[in-house]
Amino acid sequence: MGKGVLVTGGTGYIGSHTVVELIEAGYEVIIVDNLSNSDESVIEGIEAITGIRPEFVKADCRDIDALEKIFKKGKIDSIIHFAAAKAVGESVEQPLEYYHNNILSLINIISLMRRHNVPNMVFSSSCTVYGQPEVLPATEQTPRLEAESPYGNTKRICEDIIRDSVKAYGSINAIALRYFNPIGAHPSALIGELPRGVPNNLLPYVTQTAAGIREVLSIFGDDYNTPDGFCIRDYIDINDLAAAHVAALDRMLDGKMKKSFEVFNIGTGQGVSTMEIVKTFEQVNGLQLNYRITGRREGDIEAIWADPSYANEELGWYARKSLYETLRSAWKWQQRLCGIDISDE
Ligand code: NAD
Ligand code: UD1
Repeated sequence: MGKGVLVTGGTGYIGSHTVVELIEAGYEVIIVDNLSNSDESVIEGIEAITGIRPEFVKADCRDIDALEKIFKKGKIDSIIHFAAAKAVGESVEQPLEYYHNNILSLINIISLMRRHNVPNMVFSSSCTVYGQPEVLPATEQTPRLEAESPYGNTKRICEDIIRDSVKAYGSINAIALRYFNPIGAHPSALIGELPRGVPNNLLPYVTQTAAGIREVLSIFGDDYNTPDGFCIRDYIDINDLAAAHVAALDRMLDGKMKKSFEVFNIGTGQGVSTMEIVKTFEQVNGLQLNYRITGRREGDIEAIWADPSYANEELGWYARKSLYETLRSAWKWQQRLCGIDISDE
């Protein structure tokens, strides 16, 4: 089996870091992205890090004809399907957009895999499928709960579409990676997270507050039933998360899958509270954040973290970066975005 990989959503946050890991592992990458939530300049960052410029096609995964042109070139042995819209709040306001984009894109990809005999796919899923688990940490056997948002529901539906397709068609292998909370940037600060508008997620809000772009960070709720009263998440370094995709592809290409559809939790196994993130960020970067504690955010779950032992054992993959390194990289990336000279660091 060859090493050609089509990466949909490859100029996005997780996609771009994964492309770097793929290139460094000897894979030949073609990126397809419609640039709805990313910028083509990301390709320059990937090239600067790896010395190799991946092929880039601007196309929309909802457009099967445009996608098919890429498949017809015949260089694709595997697919990593990142392309999706991911803003939880927006999905509540525009559910049809979310169902249309996230589900049709996947259906097109699977249809073309069948038509062009491409057997392997890695799919971006999310720990959001677990909702608030009764027992922590979450394992892959933790029941999936009814989704809190249309976005979360698309992940659940997409997992089901993959499961049913793999079973029915026989010619497809798939691995769904359920990501916990990815944070940080490449250590070079040449690529990182580029949120559009006001960030919804914690880390971009933290770094933008530190940079003075946002006045004050709101910490949502201090009265949760957790040791310090703040929500708990499993924050996984973006480079570690990217490496999990290479491990998943290697497993497929080496014929090591135990079932033709497998699911893995990709997290550190450590639960960290929002306040611990804030305090560690201040400490490792030697600065003080302007924050205030406000009421709970609607739809937030109290606590979740992964049991990653199945991924550790089966993929040989481990989260390696310390929270210290990750929070340094997040700040270094924000400084670069702000044009602050980081060359001596
Ligand atoms: P991102 O928005 O940075 O990347 C997604 C990329 O897909 C963007 O570059 C966007 O332009 C592209 N895209 C969207 N719709 C497209 C379409 N129809 N055709 C072509 N390109 C399209 O998001 P990300 O954080 O890198 O997330 C990647 C994947 O991981 C998504 O499927 C997301 O749902 C999933 N995920 C993300 C997180 C997270 O916290 N970031 C957590 C769990 C799962
Ligand atoms: C959110 C989504 C989840 C999605 C994930 C990745 C919700 C309810 N969940 O997860 O479906 O998969 O993003 O995109 O939106 N926080 C603050 N202040 C802020 C921002 C966040 O205190 O300004 C807290 C939150 O309350 C939470 C933690 O920080 O406890 C992490 O929040 P966030 O980064 O938004 O991720 P999730 O809520 O875990």
